[in-house]
Amino acid sequence: MLKNTTKEDILIEALPYIQRYEGKTFVIKYGGAAMTDTDLQESFAKDVTLLKKIGINIVIVHGGGKAITDLSGKLGLETRFHDGQRITDAETLLNVVMTLVGTTNKDIVRLINRNGGSAVGLSGMDGELLQAKKFLYNGIDLGFVGEVESVNTKFIELLLSNGSIPVIAPVGVGADGEMYNINADLAAASIASALNAEKLFYMTDTEGILIDGELIPTLTNGKAKQYIAEGLISGGMVPKVQSSFDAIEQGVKKVHIINGTVTHSILLEIFTNVGVGTQIIKSEKLKQNIEKKNKKEQDFLDFSTLTKYGLYELFHLADKLKKTPELRPLTGKSIALIFQKPSLRTRISFEVGIAQLGGIPIVLNNETIGLGTRESSYDVAKVLSRYNDGIVARVFEHSLLEELAAHGTVPVINALSDLLHPCQILADVYTLYEHNALRPGMKIVFIGDGNNVANSWIELAGIFPMHFVLGAPKGFQPDPVVMQKSLAAGISKIEIIDDPVKAANGADVLYTDVWTSMGQEDEKQKRLAAFKGFTISKKLLDHASPNCLVMHCLPAHRGEEITDEVMIGSQSVIFDQAENRLHIQKALLCSLFGSIDSSMIQKFSIEAKNYEKTKATVSA
Ligand code: CP
Ligand code: NVA
Repeated sequence: MLKNTTKEDILIEALPYIQRYEGKTFVIKYGGAAMTDTDLQESFAKDVTLLKKIGINIVIVHGGGKAITDLSGKLGLETRFHDGQRITDAETLLNVVMTLVGTTNKDIVRLINRNGGSAVGLSGMDGELLQAKKFLYNGIDLGFVGEVESVNTKFIELLLSNGSIPVIAPVGVGADGEMYNINADLAAASIASALNAEKLFYMTDTEGILIDGELIPTLTNGKAKQYIAEGLISGGMVPKVQSSFDAIEQGVKKVHIINGTVTHSILLEIFTNVGVGTQIIKSEKLKQNIEKKNKKEQDFLDFSTLTKYGLYELFHLADKLKKTPELRPLTGKSIALIFQKPSLRTRISFEVGIAQLGGIPIVLNNETIGLGTRESSYDVAKVLSRYNDGIVARVFEHSLLEELAAHGTVPVINALSDLLHPCQILADVYTLYEHNALRPGMKIVFIGDGNNVANSWIELAGIFPMHFVLGAPKGFQPDPVVMQKSLAAGISKIEIIDDPVKAANGADVLYTDVWTSMGQEDEKQKRLAAFKGFTISKKLLDHASPNCLVMHCLPAHRGEEITDEVMIGSQSVIFDQAENRLHIQKALLCSLFGSIDSSMIQKFSIEAKNYEKTKATVSA
């Protein structure tokens, strides 16, 4: 994968990942050959030092079973296991502490520090980092073997904020003051969960999860259960896999089981487009297991299928539908609407729109269907495709939409994900077009969070020329991959400015959205503080162009991202945007599912081209 690429290619391929993971936390369970082979040790130390230097928080939890067994042998102690779990009597516990905490931990710390990192060695007893209780394995007492009850995250965060790499030996302390030997895999999963880590890595001596000798690149819970039941995943891999799903359930985004016997395997996994080993996720990701047969016409998850002319075609179709409400191009068609998050506009505009077009909307809230919990996205996509002509879905993780699209055989429309909200932006540009305000090269200024709505604006800048400015405080930037793709299209100027006044200067549109999006409620206070001064007020509007239009996707928090005065002021087109969700989505639905005469589309297309020609061209 990297063989035929230049050093520049490698760095450029890594750039969006570096941006995406800056400030995020990775927990690494270090073990196996990577811990015992000198070359692999060096490569590991370099990898974690590099990750730390580029702004990723690294926490290492290490094993050391071999060293414990070796010392037991030297001391003439018997080593006993039950189902792969070390039986830990008082003498063995002493050995565990001497080995893991005493030598192994310090060896790792020295190694990293020699490579320029700033590692700090700790056991789970220091600062009561791992509070543990006795662990009974299937009801069997294995001695001083514990399980994590709670993690002192404040202590770890303090070390991370100080630029250190905590290296943790998995020995915990109980409320009774007793020491406990904790399985390192389980300790790493507990620590990753408590820290809400972005990623948890298990370094192993195999390529990843192998089933019948074949590497499984992505493993989901349903499949994992099946493989464990069939004995295809067994031994030490079982607790790794089970604790991975527990960690994901508790907020860790992804778990990677990687081959620690390959030098720089962590870097390859993180910074290349291909990745290595097995990734464990809640549900399957895009492009895996896509069934090539039954490939359907088109999904609308983002703007990748839209062109500038296609955009105008939709505008004209929306105009036409407004003028001819008697058209029923969706007669006999049913569309399933899935909502994992709340909604007013999206739900009502789709439901009413489908009904107005003669179709049948079937609204499914997530409590009803349990997408990804009660049932896998694969099964939901398959079943809904048997009853319906299309699926509209609002989800947290964008990858869930990609899975529905991959496995369903009917078109899927994105009704908002954590990453993108394309239907909203379609309504917004249609509103500008209606107000005769849409011009190539116009200055659109989004004041607020680099969130899903901002990302969709940036994506649009890849197909429609504009000067897009995101006025956001540092740390609230848009998705780097979306940004890079739009910049690469080379038709728009895209800037991020952390001063709201400078950002708003000369704006043709001032746009905003809530500072705390759905799913981020825990961050509300932090966000209120960070966005202070980023309110669209009359004062800020004075810096924009005199005819500037004010936009908001709604719902709004008056007094936070926008003042009441501006929201209902003469320059606001906010409620037109809301209404246009209905009209433009009807056009979208017709273009995907409707029986519209092709000559009609042709006519719109010609009109669209003519319309463009008559508009002033302002260079981006
Ligand atoms: N703008 C928007 O998507 O609104 P809802 O969240 O109410 O659907
Ligand atoms: N960014 C907001 C948009 C709501 C329509 C959210 O995701 O909550």
